[in-house]
Amino acid sequence: METIEVRTDNEQYPVFIGKGMISNLNTIIKETVPECSSILIISDSNVAPLYLKLVKKELDGHQVNEWIIPAGESSKSLREYEKGLTYALRCQLDRKSLIIALGGGVVGDLAGFIAATYLRGIRFIQIPTTLLAHDSSVGGKVGINHSLGKNLIGAFHQPEAVLFDIDFLKTLPVREWRSGFAEIIKMGLIRDAEFYEYLSSKVESLPVKEDILEKVIKRAIELKAEIVSLDEREAGIRAYLNLGHTLGHAIEAESRYQSISHGEAVMIGMLYAIKLSEERLERSIVSGKFYDWISQLGYANWHPTLNRPGLLLERIKQDKKNSRQQIWMVLLEECGEATLEKVEDQVILEQLDSFKSWVKSIGTS
Ligand SMILES: NC(=O)c1ccc[n+]([C@@H]2O[C@H](COP(=O)([O-])OP(=O)(O)OC[C@H]3O[C@@H](n4cnc5c(N)ncnc54)[C@H](O)[C@@H]3O)[C@@H](O)[C@H]2O)c1
Ligand SMILES: [Zn+2]
Repeated sequence: METIEVRTDNEQYPVFIGKGMISNLNTIIKETVPECSSILIISDSNVAPLYLKLVKKELDGHQVNEWIIPAGESSKSLREYEKGLTYALRCQLDRKSLIIALGGGVVGDLAGFIAATYLRGIRFIQIPTTLLAHDSSVGGKVGINHSLGKNLIGAFHQPEAVLFDIDFLKTLPVREWRSGFAEIIKMGLIRDAEFYEYLSSKVESLPVKEDILEKVIKRAIELKAEIVSLDEREAGIRAYLNLGHTLGHAIEAESRYQSISHGEAVMIGMLYAIKLSEERLERSIVSGKFYDWISQLGYANWHPTLNRPGLLLERIKQDKKNSRQQIWMVLLEECGEATLEKVEDQVILEQLDSFKSWVKSIGTS
């Protein structure tokens, strides 16, 4: 078992990672949630049939309620949020109650937002079940989507603890592994070249092999925790976590979140950002090797929306991260060292064009 302490300005909480971690749940609650009066477990329709029973078995002695949402991004909605609050009120959760988020980023974000706002905030624990949740369960950002855009409604609300049982990843579909692993590669690219080298030499296919999985997740969480502790409210280096997300979000939005997962879109966005960084610096950072490796892992380097550069540019400009129509992009100075740069519209468009030619030249568009 590994433990990482996440520190923010006002709070500190542990992240426990390991095989069979779930058997420690009751002890962890005793230590991190004193005087817990009742528990509401929030999970989704894919995860609950697999793990809810197991989790409830560990909660002997507690009054436990459960609320299951339909799996998928569409549950991060105002409608589902209201339903959750109503359910919490019906269960008579009070200020000493605990919400447990059992699931991926969708469950974590929604359950965390319910915990952040119910009675002006009650305690919650995350039990992440996806690889991507190494990212979403650390940092305290919780929230839901609005019909006009993703993650537009939310709060900062830190959990009391995160319990990452890596046995839960055994049932995760390979497409979700790919989605989550893109964000792990991102951590290396923006902050730890050695970790990036380790990943690119050790991970030849997905899912990640069990003998290195705990180490990989631990390092990714450490890096996320480090960034969050330096910049809880996203005023500075936390923005580096957006590497690949400028174009990635635009591709996702332009495809209406249908044909591509978040991490797969971010991977194309990272490839694009790396190419742009290399052209700016007139030297190579990682891309030749990077391209071969991610292809081997099954990532696409192309998406049909890239044929609509004008629309992608519009999407980029609508992104809430871009202030006053000015586009800010995370680029790399080196592998492991990110920077935030203003990029002109024209450069984005020209780069989309040369990106297209580059992808074609390597032969697999
Ligand atoms: N709060 C943050 O800082 C933060 C950071 C990154 C992403 N996010 C959010 O996270 C969300 C994406 O998270 P995600 O990729 O975990 O998606 P998700 O929660 O939708 O999970 C992906 C799919 O896998 C299924 N699943 C989950 N665990 C499983 C398991 N162990 N076995 C089998 N199936 C399983 C789910 O039911 C779902 O169908 C997005 O809404 C994104 O905005 C938040
Ligand atoms: Zn992301």
